[in-house]
Amino acid sequence: MALADRDTTLILDNLAHACILDGTFLAAGSPGRAPEVRFFNHNSARSLERVLKTRERPNAMVLVEGIYSLDGDMGHLKAIVEVCERYNAVLVVDDAHGSGTLGVHGRGILEHLELEGRAPIVVSTFSKVFGGIGGIILASTDVIELIQHNARSFVFSATLPVPIVAAAATILTMLEDDGVALVQELQENARYMRGELVSRGFDLGLSDTHIMPVMVRDERKAMILHQMLFDRGIYMVPITYPGVKPGEERLRVNITRGHTRAEMALALDCLDELGAACEIRKQDQVAPAAP
Ligand SMILES: Cc1ncc(COP(=O)(O)O)c(C=O)c1O
Repeated sequence: MALADRDTTLILDNLAHACILDGTFLAAGSPGRAPEVRFFNHNSARSLERVLKTRERPNAMVLVEGIYSLDGDMGHLKAIVEVCERYNAVLVVDDAHGSGTLGVHGRGILEHLELEGRAPIVVSTFSKVFGGIGGIILASTDVIELIQHNARSFVFSATLPVPIVAAAATILTMLEDDGVALVQELQENARYMRGELVSRGFDLGLSDTHIMPVMVRDERKAMILHQMLFDRGIYMVPITYPGVKPGEERLRVNITRGHTRAEMALALDCLDELGAACEIRKQDQVAPAAP
């Protein structure tokens, strides 16, 4: 919000996270600021280029994610960075799910795609991999100072609690010291789970990361499956409207490096059994009897 004014067009991927939308709406509703707000088709550099060409304000800021949190797919940042550079647009990457999980050392989507230094602003969270609350912004000193003096959410709220900062600092040190092994362990678990889910016929939508939505496409079934799995000690978050459109309901499988093979095998067996009962896969659906 602090970075956009009446000379700015904010351009968002149309699957951008709710917090990106909320920041955008705050800017759009602020007296005297009111940037133009536009959307481009999910992960489409071509659609982004069309919006950049037809925008009404001189400055452009493009807001995307490293990993889209509900679909588990990576941002197509190679093409998006190239378009932003060509149109002199400022790229903001929210790497909440990529920090500590992507890239050889866990530095995120930009390390993974060999784009470090090509996004002028990166934001991330101290939840997810860090297990806390709050977040970080990585940008030039000028940008950071502008935010520190203009962002109402920063100026008028207390600092993060010391234990949260200590925990985040500890995780950062772990990543610096041992990131390669930590990321490898996570990716190994994710590869195993993905292979098993796919071979058992589950539809994982767009996912190409450790976040794997198991598509259910029915709100009641998603809630019932979540509860039945929970009763067996397995936590898969149900994602329903307004998180996703009606008909795109899903259970989110979020693999960590801490999951054991035994835990993943149990989750897979339970999903197999309960998924069959709820008929969420093509193979579970009984063909209607011939007339
Ligand atoms: C892409 C993205 N950005 C930001 C957030 C907000 O993170 P938090 O509220 O945990 O700091 C999330 C949480 O799901 C997210 O997926």
